[in-house]
Amino acid sequence: MPKRPYVIEEMISAKAIAARIEELSREIAEEFEDTDKLVVVGLLRGSFVFIADLVRELDLPIEVDFIEASSYGDSMESSREVRILKDLRGAIEGRDVLVVEDIIDTGHTLNHVTNLLLSREPARLKTIALLNKPSRREVEFVADWIGFEIPDEFVVGYGIDFAQRNRNLPFIGKVSFVE
Ligand code: PRP
Ligand code: MN
Ligand code: MG
Repeated sequence: MPKRPYVIEEMISAKAIAARIEELSREIAEEFEDTDKLVVVGLLRGSFVFIADLVRELDLPIEVDFIEASSYGDSMESSREVRILKDLRGAIEGRDVLVVEDIIDTGHTLNHVTNLLLSREPARLKTIALLNKPSRREVEFVADWIGFEIPDEFVVGYGIDFAQRNRNLPFIGKVSFVE
């Protein structure tokens, strides 16, 4: 439980997210139009809402798999040490893979996870993140698709937590501390 009282202000509405996902899914379908074996990989836990909405807009033959990585725990600050808590169920060697992430902040999580997945020699590996905070980068990471670039604010909702809370908000909100 977060210890300090805070309020959440809407930053990106559910409607704006849905519209952006429609656009992104068209670009993704174009990139993978020749595939008969796309594996869409969600990074647990933050991406669970985004991946659910994204795959339902994708008119492609896909499989869905998950990998769980954690670097923040209940803290507001990245530990910079990415732990893999649950690996993929399936093999990805020779397959087309799309990694789906909720937010890129310092870059440590996606950098670590994509290096791990690339070592398994997929045919093609692309990445998408709903949100990007370029001002916070500590390791370089450039995703193939980004939903929205956002300023350095603490955000929650649409899968993203603050100390495990608020993942179920249907929009992206900005956290402000009250005192
Ligand atoms: C959050 C978020 C991203 C990552 C981004 O995950 O969901 O995966 O941090 O931060 P980075 O670019 O600085 O690495 P978290 O570790 O909180 O786990 P969770 O997805 O289970 O909330
Ligand atoms: Mn995460
Ligand atoms: Mg988290």
